[in-house]
Amino acid sequence: MAATGLRFDGRVVLVTGAGGGLGRAYALAFAERGASVVVNDLGGDFKGYGKSSSAADKVVNEIRAKGGKAVPNYDSVEDGEKLVKTALEAFGRIDIVVNNAGILRDRSFVRISDEDWDIIHRIHLRGSFLVTRAAWNHMKNQKFGRIIMTSSAAGIYGNFGQANYSAAKLGLLGLANTIAVEGRKYNIHCNTIAPTAGSRLTQTVMPQDLVDAFKPEYVAPLVVWLCHESCAENGSLFEVGAGWIGKLRWERSLGAIVRGKSQPMTPEAVRDNWEKVCDFENASKPRTIQESISVLSDALSQIESQGNVSMNSTSSGSVASSSVGTASIVGRELATNVYKYTHLEPILYALGVGMSTKDPDHLKFLFEGSEEFCCLPSFGVIPAQTSMFDGVPSLPGLNIDLAKMLHGEQYLELYKPLPTSGQLTSVSTVADILDKGSGAVLLIDVNTYCGKDLVCYNQFSLFFIGAGGFGGRRTSEKAKLTANPPKRPPDAVISDVTTSDQAALYRLSGDWNPLHLDPSFAALGGFKKPILHGLCTFGFAARNVLKQFANNDVNRFKAIKVRFAKPVFPGQTLQTEMWKEGNRIHFQTKVKETGEVAIAGGYVDLVPALDKAPPREPLKTAGLQSDLVFEEIGRRVKEMGNELVKKVNAIFQWDITKDGKTAMQWTIDLKNGSGAVYQGPARSSADTTFTLSDEDFMDVVQQKTNPQKAFFSGKLKVKGNIMLSQKLEMILKDYAKL
Ligand code: NAI
Repeated sequence: MAATGLRFDGRVVLVTGAGGGLGRAYALAFAERGASVVVNDLGGDFKGYGKSSSAADKVVNEIRAKGGKAVPNYDSVEDGEKLVKTALEAFGRIDIVVNNAGILRDRSFVRISDEDWDIIHRIHLRGSFLVTRAAWNHMKNQKFGRIIMTSSAAGIYGNFGQANYSAAKLGLLGLANTIAVEGRKYNIHCNTIAPTAGSRLTQTVMPQDLVDAFKPEYVAPLVVWLCHESCAENGSLFEVGAGWIGKLRWERSLGAIVRGKSQPMTPEAVRDNWEKVCDFENASKPRTIQESISVLSDALSQIESQGNVSMNSTSSGSVASSSVGTASIVGRELATNVYKYTHLEPILYALGVGMSTKDPDHLKFLFEGSEEFCCLPSFGVIPAQTSMFDGVPSLPGLNIDLAKMLHGEQYLELYKPLPTSGQLTSVSTVADILDKGSGAVLLIDVNTYCGKDLVCYNQFSLFFIGAGGFGGRRTSEKAKLTANPPKRPPDAVISDVTTSDQAALYRLSGDWNPLHLDPSFAALGGFKKPILHGLCTFGFAARNVLKQFANNDVNRFKAIKVRFAKPVFPGQTLQTEMWKEGNRIHFQTKVKETGEVAIAGGYVDLVPALDKAPPREPLKTAGLQSDLVFEEIGRRVKEMGNELVKKVNAIFQWDITKDGKTAMQWTIDLKNGSGAVYQGPARSSADTTFTLSDEDFMDVVQQKTNPQKAFFSGKLKVKGNIMLSQKLEMILKDYAKL
């Protein structure tokens, strides 16, 4: 009798109405897989008249005959406590409840008697409530529970003559939805099925060959799977029958706003927008009440502020206002924005991300009179964010409402330490637009200049829920990717308690979204209170990495990437977990109180301690032509070093000769961090060293000769791993035209 695969040994299952039909099939299936089963059945007829112990006994005997464990229970589901008591007395626990018992009292609507209405509700809806409530605390205490509610297509779609039954059956779905929400944190899952099977209930309406074909055995495996400890499904609805299973979900049109600011809402406006209200093109699929309600707050803010308010939130779900036309957008310049600031802004920002004079190391970020006064590297997002928010809504062909936007990811790279005051100009462009199915991702690149010098580069990754499905690409080579941390405990963890005013303080750096401050606005967005800015948590993490691994030396901070995974509430404690892998510091930020990961896949790339000077000081040149090529390769490595490091994983040293003497040494490091090109010999040992003259180098690069020829003719000397040199072509081939 033992079935392998999904096992239920040690689990106790209560199946109501298990004396026949579907319930019997469930009871047998669970028992076959090692569960102890309480076979409940009142044993009346299909209309709910009479009672008998024979139905339950018969199934118990069947199970026992096959070597399984089962006890009968003959109570009505209206005595929920008694059913659970049987489980506890016989087997000592209760793990799974399958609410299945049911009867029919079909009548056309107007002929339904009070009694017919009530008994259907009592058995189906109230009975499921009573049995489940009796089991709840046991499940909660043991932190495990699986519950099935049995609905019906009659409830989902309506069916002639079944108004009482339809109402009760869909009531069960509502019950299940809330149980799923309340049970989640105790590992209690509740799912609903709408089965179709031949049984005595369907015998009267189905022809016999269908009754035979739609076996209960073609439904039971779904119930078994949903109740297994390894099944994470929760709060879902399935139609099932004949060996087919489908999942159902809600779909909601994008809808229409039918009133203007300070104007009354009229039925005429409703009529005039009716087509749009009912248009399911690009419909959203809200899964939670938060997602459902967030559209209202979006609408409100759109009405109140004509969509000028940024929703730089990290989790609110919402819909995009329309589909996205992409062709003409990629590469388009969005905005140029000038950000003027004094020492006040960097200090305010430092306070906003939790810096304090309690830590003497922080003084240089908080006191303009400090000799070493400097700007936190993560401040680089501040001048850029303004330019991005300004540009996005005005994109032609892209009907986007910022209130529909989630801030998904952020990348920041610094080329110089940020000035502590002055004027920065940010130019934003659309790097790419991706179709993620459930939404569209807009990648915005922002280059920030001080005069002509490029100071930093940001990539904002913005997610527009509901705007996907336009047939675009899913990925982009332009996207800066997150990186998973190593699978070992973190090398360092820093905890920061945020204050309840953290968001109130952080927003003064320029993100005025009321979502972060105004409780009623946050509530409309589906949050229990205002949430912290994702970029504030980002700032906490960035400064922790800087302190822990770079001794607060802002010169060493090269780049940072994060994904915003969950919101943080002001007052919660942030735990930045960090792993050092060469010059890359992986990190994630957890909310201590909940254990949830708020920032995922993060990393900071540091300039190696010794490496500080060369990339940031003007390069010495010896007037060699090859210098230009190496500088160009340096730029390329900056752009796509991560990718090259993955592909090449080697360090190449070049000894360039002029008139028979070494005139210049260069190192292309494609092994550490995100790669580097610098003058001088390799700082850690080179895998391959090439020696050749400046002229021969140029000939190779310009493909006048190939490296093999140069090697065999003695012009090119190679030390170390010669095979690796093949990978060099990946970097050199693009410079043929130089
Ligand atoms: P069934 O009549 O073979 O099984 C129902 C069982 O529940 C019977 O054994 C009955 O004695 C028992 N029962 C009735 N009232 C009870 C009470 N107060 N306490 C304890 N047990 C009680 O019918 P079937 O088809 O197996 O139905 C099982 C469930 O599936 C029902 O909830 C039904 O509404 C639902 N369903 C069935 C469909 C089908 O195509 N068979 C379609 C949609 C829903």
